[in-house]
Parts: sequence; C-alpha cells; structure tokens
Amino acid sequence: MSERPVLVFDSGIGGLTVLREARVLMPDRRFVYVADDAAFPYGAWDEPGLRGHILNLFGRLLDRFQPEISVIACNTASTLVIDALREAFPGHPFVGTVPAIKPAAERTRSGLVSVLATPGTVKRQYTRDLIRQWATKCHVRLIGSDRLAGLAEIYMRDGFVNEDAVRAEITPCFVEHEGRRTDIVVLACTHYPFLVNRMRKTAPWPVDWLDPAEAIARRALSLIGAKENREEANPSSGEKDLAVFTSGKADFPTRRLMQGFGLSIA
Ligand code: DGL
Repeated sequence: MSERPVLVFDSGIGGLTVLREARVLMPDRRFVYVADDAAFPYGAWDEPGLRGHILNLFGRLLDRFQPEISVIACNTASTLVIDALREAFPGHPFVGTVPAIKPAAERTRSGLVSVLATPGTVKRQYTRDLIRQWATKCHVRLIGSDRLAGLAEIYMRDGFVNEDAVRAEITPCFVEHEGRRTDIVVLACTHYPFLVNRMRKTAPWPVDWLDPAEAIARRALSLIGAKENREEANPSSGEKDLAVFTSGKADFPTRRLMQGFGLSIA
C-alpha cells in the first residue's frame, strides 16, 4: 500500500517556500503540492466566495490524494477558512499559515512592526484578533499589497522582477516615529520570501524580515511525527512528489520551476 502524502496547498507558487522547509525536516515523506492557479490571486477574492471555493476544492483533494496531513501554506486562505476546514473534515489534521504577529511582537526592540500581506489577509478579522491578542504593547502597521504575489510568480518563472515595483510595494512598511524605526517586517504571504533579497536591496533601512515557513514545517512534523519512529514506516514506496495545478495548464517555465523543486506535474 502506498504511503499517504503530505499535501501542501497554496493559490500559486508561494507554498513552495513552505514545502522546501518541510522537505528538510521530513526528507522521507512523500509530498503533493497543490497550486490553485485557476483561482489566483486569492488576495482579490471576496470572503464568502473564497471560503466556498476552498471548502469545495478540499473535498475533492482529500478524496483524490488521501493525505495524512494538509498544510495550508497560504495566509490568505488560512486566515479565512482554517476553522471551517477543520469543521468540515474533522478527522483530518490541517496546519495553517497565519501572520507571525506573536513572534514579531516578542522580538521587536523599537515596538514598530509592519505586516506585509495580501489585501485579503489585511482585511481579515483573524489578523485583527492576532494583533489584539499578542501585540497590544507595540504598534502594528498592516500593509496590503496588490502586486507582490504576482511579482513573485513572475520572478520565479521568468527570473525577472521590477525592482522599482518591489520598492513601491514595501515602502509603506517603513515607519519612523519619535526617533524609533520599524525593525521587523512580517512576511505574511508565502510568496514573499522568494523576493526577500530584492526587498533587502530596495528597503530604506535594514529590518528583520520574518518568514514563518520553518515554523509551519515544524508544526506539521510535530503532528505526524518522524517517520523512523512510526511502525508503519514505508521507506521504499519510491513514488514521486507531485505538483498539481487546478487550471490543468502549467506552462513551460512553470514545469521547469516544479522540476527544480523535484516535483512531477500530475
Ligand atoms: N501565497 C498566498 C498567501 O500566503 C497569497 C497569494 C494570493 O494572493 O493568492 O497569502
């Protein structure tokens, strides 16, 4: 019997930033990466429409791939549907990706933190609740970017990014107030770590860019355990890791990118 995979889900290529960490921590696992590219970008969807869409899609994905666990490697989706997914599929473990506001609040020295995310994530009650719960002692600025996820997609496929556009999108993150400056920017969209070098280059001053990918991968590992410790371990299943595109149309640069990540297109 083949081993049940770890399913990693995003609207596009952003979840690959989580997949690469998950692979390091769980090298013997089989992965299925699902990009809902037919619906990209999630940041522009209205909430009821996106909630219904993801719940529907997950019914089909769980049937088709029978994963052991699903990692929602997308802030825009997790902040909206993680609770609804757990309710709809009660026996199945889900790991969500939500803005790393708590660690940012713990680490900031200046007390000025910015959260860079899609317009959807910035609007969510979930995000506001995280701030109220964990960051009352600092000032959190929420910046919704219409363009960065798309720029990351272009960069990863075509190797090109417009640095002026990156600069324009990140500039509102940088605040100076009474001699203090923003010192942490939370990357609250899984696409953004792909652009972090360009962000560093175009930023007005150095900050800590907080990427939660490793923490997400650790959480997944903690839920399913290390393979060597499990009796049902099946090290020689030999099946390939897959990439699934909901559009059914991965173009050549996308196929090449997936190949680079060791994924075969399903
Ligand atoms: N990667 C997704 C996230 O973490 C968002 C990209 C999109 O707008 O679809 O929020």
